[in-house]
This record gives sequence, C-alpha cells and structure tokens, in this order.
Amino acid sequence: MSLLPHGRVLVQAFQPDLPYEEIKNEIILDPISLSDLELLAIGAYSPLEGFLSKADYDGVVESMRLKDGTVWSIPITLPISEEHANQLQTGERCRLVYQQETYGVIDINEIYKPDKEKEALLVYGTNEIKHPGVRKLFDREDVYVGGKITLLKRPKKPFGENTFDPSETRAIFKEKGWKTIVGFQTRNPVHRAHEYIQKSGLEIVDGLFLNPLVGETKSDDIPAEIRMESYKVLLKSYYPNDRVLLGVFPAAMRYAGPREAIFHALVRKNYGCTHFIVGRDHAGVGSYYGTYEAQKLFDRFTDQELGITPLRFEHSFYCEKCDAMATTKTCPHDSTHHVILSGTKVREMLRNGQVPPRTFSRPEVIEVLIKGLKKQEVRTT
Ligand code: ADX
Repeated sequence: MSLLPHGRVLVQAFQPDLPYEEIKNEIILDPISLSDLELLAIGAYSPLEGFLSKADYDGVVESMRLKDGTVWSIPITLPISEEHANQLQTGERCRLVYQQETYGVIDINEIYKPDKEKEALLVYGTNEIKHPGVRKLFDREDVYVGGKITLLKRPKKPFGENTFDPSETRAIFKEKGWKTIVGFQTRNPVHRAHEYIQKSGLEIVDGLFLNPLVGETKSDDIPAEIRMESYKVLLKSYYPNDRVLLGVFPAAMRYAGPREAIFHALVRKNYGCTHFIVGRDHAGVGSYYGTYEAQKLFDRFTDQELGITPLRFEHSFYCEKCDAMATTKTCPHDSTHHVILSGTKVREMLRNGQVPPRTFSRPEVIEVLIKGLKKQEVRTT
C-alpha cells in the first residue's frame, strides 16, 4: 500500500538558496510559529503551504475543514500586533525572524483580525483562561497574517539523530519493509500503560513510530530532553529494536483534546503512518474533555477523508489480581486492584525523588526521570 500524504502531495518548501537580503519588512516569530514554519515547510502539515488565510481559518475553526473541504482541525496561524499589521501589505514578501535570524519568508496573502473568543470556544471547547491552550491563544498577538511560506534555514535540532522529516520517515519505513505503521504521540514519559497500548498496536502492524512531541509544552510537563533519555532506555531494554523508530515531533502542544487528536493523526499520516493510537483523554488537560471524546471525534469523518486508521484504546492500568496490564474490556476486577496514578501525582513523586511502583513505570525510566529532574533543579536554583 502506498500511503499518500494528506491532500495527496507532500509539501516541500525548504529553499536555503532563496535570496532574502533585499527584503525589508520582517515578522518576528515566537517559538510556536517558528516550529510551525518548519513543520509546514517539511510537509508535516501537508496540504497546508503556509499560515492560514481567512477562509481556511474560518473553515477550520467552524467545521474542521479547509475551504476546499479537506479535513483539518487546528488553525495554524501567524499572529502579529495590530501596530505591526498597519505597516504590512497584502502581496508583499516578508522575512520571518527568530532571535535576529531569518528563518524563512512569507508571501502575504491576507491580514485579518480573528475572533479569538470564538476560536477558543470552538477549538478548545472553553474560553477559560486557565486552560493552557486558551491562555496561549490570548497571550499571542491579535492579528493574523496568512500566506505561503518558504523555509530558508532549519531551526536547531537538539535531538539530531532522532530528527526526521516526513520524506525521511517514509523512506525508512519503506526500507524496513514495513507496510503498516502505527504512530504514537506523547508529551509524557512512556509508562506501563503507554507501553501496553503501543505493544498491543505492534501485535497487529509491522512497525511502531514513537513520535514524542518536543515543541513548547506547559511548564510542569517533563522537559523533552529528560523524556528523550527515558524513551531510549525503555526501547533498549523492552522493545524489539527492529520494529520501532524513535523520532521527535517538533510541534508545540495545544492541549486541544479531541481536535488535537485529529490533527496529530493527520500529521502522522504525513510522516507515513497507516495507523494512529488514540487512548484515553488524548491531548487533554485537567478535566476539560471526556475520557473518550477524542476517540469519538474520529467518527465524524469517513475513513477516506482521514486516510489514517485510529487505534482506540480504553484506559489501561496494571491489575494486581490479573497480575497483568489490562483495561475494563479485559479485566473483571474492581478498581481497588488497579494501579492508577495521575500525571500530576507522578510528577510530584518524581520531583520528591519518590519511586512510583514498577507496575506503573519501568525502573530504568524512573531512574532517568529522577536524575534528570534533580539536575534540572540544580541548574535552575
Ligand atoms: S498526550 O497529551 O500526548 O495525549 P500522553 O503522552 O499522556 O498525553 O498520551 C499519549 C497517548 O497515550 C494518547 O493517545 C493518550 O490517549 C494515551 N494514554 C495515556 N495514558 C493512557 C492510559 N492510562 N490508558 C490508555 N491510554 C493512555
């Protein structure tokens, strides 16, 4: 099976030789738009060729579709201040700058003022400022610039040997002879529940693409460099190495729950995956979304429209009575026998140097996390 990218063509917009010195106007990028610029250019966001113009933005916000009907669930936008917007014009080419360096250009197609209240309610399902995605939405500038982009310089690759473009992962999957590949999104260390659903996936497909998100996350999530170490020790001791590829996903986390699950799946389709794992409360935060709301959202679209198969998993846990990992689909015992720890509780334990049970997480993983967090504390104090 040749798996086509979303919208059929893998966008390629990296042109390091494009002259830009003569271009006067510039737009300053924040870390989110810098990562979006790169992901657009390497085709991870295919079929998007740039930051969304108004009609596509409205379509995505209101009905999870671009104006041509293609499914897309998260608006990819380039916010600038109103003052700055007054100095720019439709039709002009502008440099895209991060920390005094030009990373790309945009051909401005449109400059427009979004209704952020509406964006918050429709994309995040809430306008509460304490939701980290909503807070970020309102913290960013108030006018959006839409237009096609070209990437001139690649942002730094802190995870070099585990960084692949979609064209590269597609080639790797082909070389390995994998016909079916399951993508796994995570912003957390891989605990036993994650391992269980990944391996359940691996029982039915040829390969696993472990694709942790390493872009901007909220401050109390475990930093990406510590997580990367923990993935490596886990893979080394517990996974069949010839059936797993570890590669980072440099996007920012939106915490948009169901909408972000669709986005996460479409992006993994662009990386060459045929399947995508959606477990409990995918990309959720606090209690904003129902446990299986993300899974249900996939039912709103046809298989053809999505072009990637969601593998849905129930909330998984270790059951002391079964003496195994399980879900309520496979375990008859009541919850007093289940080892379930919240993410907040685990982070608190790790920061205090406490070791969560082996039934929750592999000891090798815990060791890396405790050490990493200690080092980080030393650096920040
Ligand atoms: S996420 O924000 O990236 O979704 P996390 O890294 O915790 O957060 O989850 C990665 C994937 O594993 C998601 O698909 C999520 O639904 C799933 N998941 C996490 N914990 C469990 C669990 N205990 N049982 C089933 N699925 C889970």
